[in-house]
Amino acid sequence: MTDNHVCRRLTGRTAVVTGAGSGIGLASARRLASEGARVVCADIDETTGKAAAGEVGGLFVRTDVTDPDQVEALFQAAYDTYGSVDVAFNNAGISPPDDDSIIETGLEAWKRVQEVNLTSVYLCCKAAIPYMRRQGKGSVINTASFVARMGAATSQISYTASKGGVLAMSRELGVQFAREGIRVNALCPGPVNTPLLRELFAKDPERAARRLVHIPAGRFAEAEEIAAAVAFLASDDSSFVNATDFLVDGGLTGAYVTPL
Ligand SMILES: NC(=O)c1ccc[n+]([C@@H]2O[C@H](COP(=O)([O-])OP(=O)(O)OC[C@H]3O[C@@H](n4cnc5c(N)ncnc54)[C@H](O)[C@@H]3O)[C@@H](O)[C@H]2O)c1
Repeated sequence: MTDNHVCRRLTGRTAVVTGAGSGIGLASARRLASEGARVVCADIDETTGKAAAGEVGGLFVRTDVTDPDQVEALFQAAYDTYGSVDVAFNNAGISPPDDDSIIETGLEAWKRVQEVNLTSVYLCCKAAIPYMRRQGKGSVINTASFVARMGAATSQISYTASKGGVLAMSRELGVQFAREGIRVNALCPGPVNTPLLRELFAKDPERAARRLVHIPAGRFAEAEEIAAAVAFLASDDSSFVNATDFLVDGGLTGAYVTPL
């Protein structure tokens, strides 16, 4: 891992991170703070969200990202506290077990996943972009997934559709606001080594092997490796990177035959 202390690309910037209490959001809150950003940690989980904000010396705003008023209040709080909204990392998302094959998945499960994974990104972009327009500058990073680019026989149909939506929406917003100094990118992580995934695959090594064989790198990503990409997209180092499906997937989507 790189020495984050030499990298201070975000001094004086305010970054809002949704789903900051866990996984990619938590690793990103840490990384953005280490690069000098003032981090606003949003999560529906008060315990983990507060802990994240405490750790990075930032602000916690309890937010259900599916609620328009709460999302408005989140970005307002960021602006009122720190005076700008420079980075919006719209990352909160769910992948519940009742979202499965289209044959099994009911309308309720479909709708819940669309709300949390896609409507939330619409709401966060709608709330964040007006601040960025006034500043004439901003970076929006929306977490999509490699499944926005590839089909899986082990389907989670609403999840996949929601991430496809995040990707297309991000591209369009990136194009629309480009001349106002605002960049919007969809971050597409490959599978990440999370506690949930570790537990699942410890119980079922064949399931892990079936996935790992497709990844040229031969392993899943660490959350810190995704966070490093978030920091890049947040910073001016990515000033000409816009409207992309920014893949951080160990080569997964580029692969046909992988090394033995
Ligand atoms: N983990 C992976 O392998 C992987 C791969 C590609 C994309 N992603 C995406 O990355 C993002 C983060 O995933 P993760 O693995 O870090 O998940 P995680 O479960 O570790 O963290 C998600 C966080 O979002 C919060 N959250 C859930 N619903 C919320 C709501 N309604 N309002 C506010 N906060 C809410 C949770 O409390 C949690 O803290 C998600 O969008 C996910 O789809 C994950």
